[in-house]
Formats: sequence, C-alpha cells, structure tokens
Amino acid sequence: MAAPGVPLDQVLQGDCLDLLPQLPAASVDLVFADPPYNLQLRQELWRPNNTRVEAVTDAWDQFPDLAACDQFTQEWLGACRRVLQRSGTLWVIGSYHNIYRVGSILMDLGFWILNDVVWVKTNPMPNSRGVRFTHAHQTLLWAQREEGAPYTFDHHAMKSLNEGLQMRSDWQLPVCSGRERLRLAGVKAHSTQKPEALLYRVLLASSSPGQIVLDPPFGTGTTGVAARRLGRHWIGIEREATYVALARRRLAREPAPTLPPAALASLNPRALPRIPFGALLEHGLERPGATLYFGPQGKTSARVLADGSLQAGRRRGSIHQIACALRRATGGTCGTTATRAHAASSPSTGCARSCASAATRASLRRAPRPPEAHSPQGGRGI
Ligand SMILES: C[S@@+](CC[C@H](N)C(=O)[O-])C[C@H]1O[C@@H](n2cnc3c(N)ncnc32)[C@H](O)[C@@H]1O
Repeated sequence: MAAPGVPLDQVLQGDCLDLLPQLPAASVDLVFADPPYNLQLRQELWRPNNTRVEAVTDAWDQFPDLAACDQFTQEWLGACRRVLQRSGTLWVIGSYHNIYRVGSILMDLGFWILNDVVWVKTNPMPNSRGVRFTHAHQTLLWAQREEGAPYTFDHHAMKSLNEGLQMRSDWQLPVCSGRERLRLAGVKAHSTQKPEALLYRVLLASSSPGQIVLDPPFGTGTTGVAARRLGRHWIGIEREATYVALARRRLAREPAPTLPPAALASLNPRALPRIPFGALLEHGLERPGATLYFGPQGKTSARVLADGSLQAGRRRGSIHQIACALRRATGGTCGTTATRAHAASSPSTGCARSCASAATRASLRRAPRPPEAHSPQGGRGI
C-alpha cells in the first residue's frame, strides 16, 4: 500500500535534488539510478572511416570539477536513502569514470553493498583509436539501505531466468539498439538509454509485484517500462523536458501487464506445503511394498513399509534417514546435493531439509531411474 502523497506511475519533471525531498520518507521499495557519468571528454572522437562517434557530450553530464560531482552524488544518494523503506535496496549503474566515487560515497552514507554486478556488453562500441582496451562493461552496485535489514532478492526468479542455474554477477547483455533505441529525426534521442533487458533483470531480482520503484534520473524511462511489464509501480524524476516527453510517450505505449500479481511472482519451492510421507500412504498415493529409487542413476532403492518408514537392506528408518544413509553409502554427503537432486533448493541446507526434499520427491516420482538434474552451484565463494 503506497503512503499518501506518493506520485505513483508518474514522470516528475525537475531537478532530483529539489523533488526527492518532496517525497514522503520511507515510501519506496527500490531505487534504480543511472546518474551522470562525468565523462569529461576533452575532444570529439572520430572513427578511421571519418564518422564521428556518438559519445556522451551532453550538458547534463558535465560538472565543473570532481568536487562538484561528488557533492551532487552525496546529495542525491542521501535523498534516496531518506525515501527508501528500511528494507529497501538501491542500484547505481556507472562506469570507471564515476562508479568508484559513487561506491565510496554510498558506503559513507550508511548503505551496505550487497553485490557489484558487471554488465558485460556483448556488442560494445569499438575503441577505434587503439590506445586502450575496448570499454566493454559497466558496473552496477547493489546496496541495502541498512546493513542486516531484510530485503527482497528473488533467487528463484533469477535461477529460472538463467535456465535453472544460480544467477552470477556477470551479466552478458547487448547495448540498447534496434527498435528499442529511441530516435528523434533518425538520431539517438538519448546518449545513454539503457537496455530494457538490464532493467527487467534488476527489477525481477530485487522487487516484488506491486512494490514501488524510483528512478531519480529517469532519462527515457527504461526503468518505468520494466516496472510496468512486471507489475511494479514506478516513479521517475528527470530534469530535461525532451526526455520527460519521450519517457511519458514511451510509457503510455507500454501495455499494462496481463498477468495477475500472483503469476508475476516466482514460485518459491520452500514456501510450498510439506506433506508427511505417511500421508501419501494414508491417502492411497503410495502403497506399502512399493520401491523407491535413489541416486543419480537410481541404483539404490528402498521398500516402503506400512507405517511410512523405509527398508533398505537390513536398515529401517524414516524416509529422511534412509535417503541420507543411501547417499552416504554411495560416497555422497547428506547436506550438499540431494540424492534425487532436482535442482537442489540450497547447497548449504542441512541434512534434514535436503534429505527430506530428496526423499519426498523420490517417493512422488516413483519412476525408476529418473535423470539427475542437480544444481552444480557450490557454497559461498568470493
Ligand atoms: C545516464 S542518463 C539516464 C538514462 C536512463 N537510464 C535511460 O535508460 O534512458 C542520466 C539522466 O540524468 C538526468 N539528470 C542529470 N542531472 C539531473 C538532475 N539534477 N535531476 C534530474 N535529472 C538529472 C539527465 O538529463 C539524464 O537524462
């Protein structure tokens, strides 16, 4: 439920340093910011074929000096912290020109960095002068308002988006081009329009349907487009009238999501109800005497007894105990990958949970020798 006075789904025209203080405190769930880079380009860039490189030379990207840019960063970041909920998080995207200074300032302000993500551009602009490496990535910092507060991270959505594998912090995505790139009289309408795929991933990962996402330098409104697609509310602040008009037009064209909020949220397997194994017998879904198969190839098996326990050789015990024992007997450990692994819910779960889920699924499948599909993701490396 939005606090009173929150201008939902609107582009506000003006300076973010003036408008952010007008939003109620603790009123938004997520901030995505793509602030000026302070590129400090000293000369025009030309390609060997005499075409001019469309670089970021806009007035909005220029500051008299680094101190002025730092001052601006401190002010807008501080203002964003005020409007964020305690559980809120903030993303800032930048390049080597600004991101280190932004990172230092946001830490000084009390934000707690959760990740830095590298957006690897699959089609970067070539470095035609050949005097440096091609600049093929940008960095995103993801920070929470308060260290230790609960925050939204949809691990399951990210895994699902990544074909069942845990999402890594290096994202390979193309730069904004083609039909998605807004143009005015054939020329790029905004020099730094971000790809919708990038914002889609950011919002899917770190917000939930119905939450409020704020983008203080809104530009052409890419964040609003992703928010609308995903059933989130959005607020954009942008100073330049041309971009405000472009963003408003773009968002008016973006259809409302057709899925209900529940279908926009991802399925968390841990939130599913857990059924005691014995209940399957009571309800005739499993029969005493049935055989369950375990292990990657289904090489080990156990017999279902009438009281819901299992027998494997001379060993008798609960489905959890037998699943663990069989796993250990074949050289595995209980807590890492589940016997019947099914994209194990968490590599760090203890024996009870992983065995329970492994065994329960084994019983539900019953088909002998199902293929193993476990997640290769390991523990908490740096
Ligand atoms: C890097 S661009 C954002 C591009 C945007 N993410 C997109 O996909 O179109 C930065 C934007 O900040 C805006 N801007 C710069 N200073 C501002 C200020 N003080 N208040 C509001 N907007 C500002 C600029 O006009 C520019 O559109």
